[in-house]
Amino acid sequence: MSIKTATLNGVATIEIARPEKKNALTVAMYQAMTDALHAAQADPAVRALLITGQPGVFTSGNDIDDFMNRPPAGGIDSPDSPVVLFMKALYGFEKPVVAAVTGAAIGIGTTMLLHCDFVYVSDEARLAMPFVSLGLVPEFASSLIVPRLMGHVRAAEKLLLGDPFTGADAVEFGIANAVLPATEVVNHARRIAERFNSLPPGAVRESKKLMRASATPAVMAAIHAENQQFAARLASPEAREAFTAFFQKRKPDFTQFS
Ligand code: COA
Repeated sequence: MSIKTATLNGVATIEIARPEKKNALTVAMYQAMTDALHAAQADPAVRALLITGQPGVFTSGNDIDDFMNRPPAGGIDSPDSPVVLFMKALYGFEKPVVAAVTGAAIGIGTTMLLHCDFVYVSDEARLAMPFVSLGLVPEFASSLIVPRLMGHVRAAEKLLLGDPFTGADAVEFGIANAVLPATEVVNHARRIAERFNSLPPGAVRESKKLMRASATPAVMAAIHAENQQFAARLASPEAREAFTAFFQKRKPDFTQFS
């Protein structure tokens, strides 16, 4: 079981649980998370959603073996690709989403935080968006949102160089609310989510919608453009070299590419 779900005291929890692969996300895991989001959306007893990982790792991002060997049949940019359906369910989720970042949040592990409403980060966490290092491009509006949050030059360090950053940096950039001790981050995030039990759900829902409305057209346009590039890059020789190097536990060699 690599995705665990539970609903308790008004909070639906999605727990990423594949620690042996550092919580790398497979197609089946995206499908399970999408189903959980739809079920939580439809359940009137659910007032907020909590997404969390395992001690020391939130998620190491998309499973690189899936990237290499099992790209979605219709292409990663097709409307029915599991990762696209998951991200669509996440940014379309009408109730508040709280993330407890229990450790490393790489690739989509950081991207998904840009679409949550509250983000609490363990003091052991490292975030990174190493898409370029993998021969890919940013995804799901990170090319739009990250420069808007931190300015172009700092975004270039994160998106072009793929430099990792700390939870404290994430707070400074406006990606996260607070850094907490590793032992407290999930409980704190849960307490925030549970506060929605005593707030009026209709007002919360409409307010979240209003907060996102003005950015939505630009976010959708960015996602569309990124997905097309991402799909093309996945099949590129640069990406193949990066993925192969990852599994061979060596540095990739991009010197032969122009
Ligand atoms: N996809 C597939 N397998 C992954 C993975 C991923 N994204 N991340 C980790 N794994 C696997 C490793 O291949 C390894 O498998 P093995 O035990 O069969 O060799 C296992 O998980 C443990 O990973 P390892 O790298 O040894 O752990 P670590 O503690 O040294 O480093 C990370 C942890 C998260 C920093 C490192 O695994 C990493 O950088 N992962 C890739 C991140 C990435 O580039 N994601 C894609 C973003 S688009």
